[in-house]
Amino acid sequence: MKNRVTPINAEIRLRDDHLLISKTDPKGRLTYCNREFIHISGYSEMELLGQQHNIVRHPDMPRGVFRLLWNTLSSGNEFFGYIKNMTKDGRFYWVMATVTPSYTSLGQLAGYASVRRKPRDGFAQTIEPLYAEMLEVERNHGAADAPDASIRLLEQRMAEMNTEYEPFILTI
Ligand SMILES: Cc1cc2nc3c(=O)[nH]c(=O)nc-3n(C[C@H](O)[C@H](O)[C@H](O)COP(=O)(O)O)c2cc1C
Repeated sequence: MKNRVTPINAEIRLRDDHLLISKTDPKGRLTYCNREFIHISGYSEMELLGQQHNIVRHPDMPRGVFRLLWNTLSSGNEFFGYIKNMTKDGRFYWVMATVTPSYTSLGQLAGYASVRRKPRDGFAQTIEPLYAEMLEVERNHGAADAPDASIRLLEQRMAEMNTEYEPFILTI
């Protein structure tokens, strides 16, 4: 589904005890959303289920972050990341997401799940400039190479700080 929502500069802040949960099939289509995820999204459960997860995508998010998310999940690992999402009325909310693959008893991929919490205070000082830089790189590349170019920049920044993406994210 094409997202035709216009972003507005109004933030919704999660409470400390908020947990926003969604599950998808192996293709990233929503199969489950908990009450808090539905409530904050502004959509009804019927509007969400069966849709691609990009229904909540915010245009300020670099494509490289989602490329990294899918690369990490495809290799069977958990992904951790800060994500800015958009509500049905265009407002935004930041989350710290843990996204995991799940498997059937036969070891086949069953789908994915994401658990989102309120980000730690001060995360934006680190994440917003980094994402802005990634978006800039993406604008300077053709659509086909933009996500990989953006991941290269991210890796370069991690190397400069003598770290890697996962420990970096988990210590913010
Ligand atoms: C379990 C799971 C949770 C996801 N959660 C989000 C999310 O909260 N926000 C988001 O923008 N994309 C999320 N995605 C990634 C989307 O599937 C998609 O890759 C992303 O929105 C970029 O969409 P686009 O390539 O159409 O721009 C999630 C994917 C999975 C598998």
